[in-house]
Amino acid sequence: MSEVQNICKRYNSFLEALPPSTLEKLPELGVDNRLSPGSMDVSTDEIISREAHEREKEHIWTKAWQMACREEQIPEIGDQYVYDICDKSYIVVRSAENEFRAFVNSCPHRGRQLREYNGNAAQIRCGFHALTWSLEGEIKHLPCLNEFTRRGKDDWRLPQIKTGTWGGFVFINPDPEAESLESYLGELPEHFKRWKLEDRYIVAHVQKICPTNWKVAQEAFMESFHVTTTHPQATLVQNNLDVKGDVFGNFSRQMSLLATPSPQKRGDVSNQEVVDAALNLLPEEEKLLEVPDGVPAREFMAEAQRERLRVTLGDQVDELEQTELVDIFYYTVFPNFHPWGAFNELTYRFRPNGDDHRTSIMEVYYLQTFKEGERPAPNPTTHLSIDQWFSEAPELGNLAWVFDQDVLNFPAMQRGLESSATGKIVLTEYQEIKIRHFYELYRKWLGYDAAAAGAASRPRLVAG
Ligand code: FES
Ligand SMILES: [Fe+2]
Repeated sequence: MSEVQNICKRYNSFLEALPPSTLEKLPELGVDNRLSPGSMDVSTDEIISREAHEREKEHIWTKAWQMACREEQIPEIGDQYVYDICDKSYIVVRSAENEFRAFVNSCPHRGRQLREYNGNAAQIRCGFHALTWSLEGEIKHLPCLNEFTRRGKDDWRLPQIKTGTWGGFVFINPDPEAESLESYLGELPEHFKRWKLEDRYIVAHVQKICPTNWKVAQEAFMESFHVTTTHPQATLVQNNLDVKGDVFGNFSRQMSLLATPSPQKRGDVSNQEVVDAALNLLPEEEKLLEVPDGVPAREFMAEAQRERLRVTLGDQVDELEQTELVDIFYYTVFPNFHPWGAFNELTYRFRPNGDDHRTSIMEVYYLQTFKEGERPAPNPTTHLSIDQWFSEAPELGNLAWVFDQDVLNFPAMQRGLESSATGKIVLTEYQEIKIRHFYELYRKWLGYDAAAAGAASRPRLVAG
């Protein structure tokens, strides 16, 4: 076996790079919840077929907890946010200072969508015949009462669905039988207790239509194996192979070292080159930070980040471990929510583009800290069409070029999967643990398991 292949299996090397005191402070990092070894085959039908999309609508999008918006996007009582998923639409409402409700976005009279856009109103009013509800969903106004004599007022309650909050995000679940959000997330809040995503604000939120199925789009981010080929510039700054991947009920986590070149990066790399790459500097751009001679890049980046955070968080930043200031803690909550841990600013969400199984919506949020008591207003959402690039959203900075490198793969992924001769993809044993975990959950939610899948028609598990 070659040296690089061996490196790909060094599961604990991430932890070995941390001082023991870090693991005493952050015991969650040391948890060993690997998937059992073994590659996994997933049929292309499971990934891109219309049939899979229809099953997702029936078994996932109407049953699973989904992040609908940030609390800060509906800060005032009466603020209403439209969350669309496939052919369904819901309204998330701040109905009281600390109360969120969600309603099916469809008028019980003749079915008109109640809200087409986000906005604020003291009530929910249908634009067709003016039936009107309170923010709690009680009917307030029935025009021409004598026209509706066969139903009492209570029958006109607006159909409400479950909501929950975590980390400053509002989640919805259309399934009245669903377990609580708290139970669904399991130990995720414990992992984030030092990182408090609720104390962040949206400094950027960009939605882009992508030319591939939503699962293909999100899987492009769920491993760092591709960095060597798709983002070769990032091999200067990310040890993308010695990753630690663990699974926890409905979520997974991959950790990797930053400010540390990849084992696949050959030759000497200077500390300055590592720092420039960490800042996503383009070759012609001026340096943002000068690394003094003899200071390791990792130490330099950690202290630069500590001082940056000190402006908003104060001296509590002195308690932060180097790994929290530098490294990648990338979480995925089934089915489509991807909050990054520690003080990285990223969160992603992926979903089908309306009822189209061949295109998707990818969203990038940058969530930044702010001074206590001085929450800034969230920045508005930028919408990019299928023909635009992330780099057309200046608020994303140079990281947008990295997203665009991923997006370049999307149409080729879709066409390649549609043309597949084998009818399947093969997930690696180790580097693609998060994707394997996703498909284990996916099959469970869709009513397939590995044993039954061989007998099922389509989508099916292809014998490896
Ligand atoms: S369809 Fe909504 S009031 Fe008639
Ligand atoms: Fe990527």
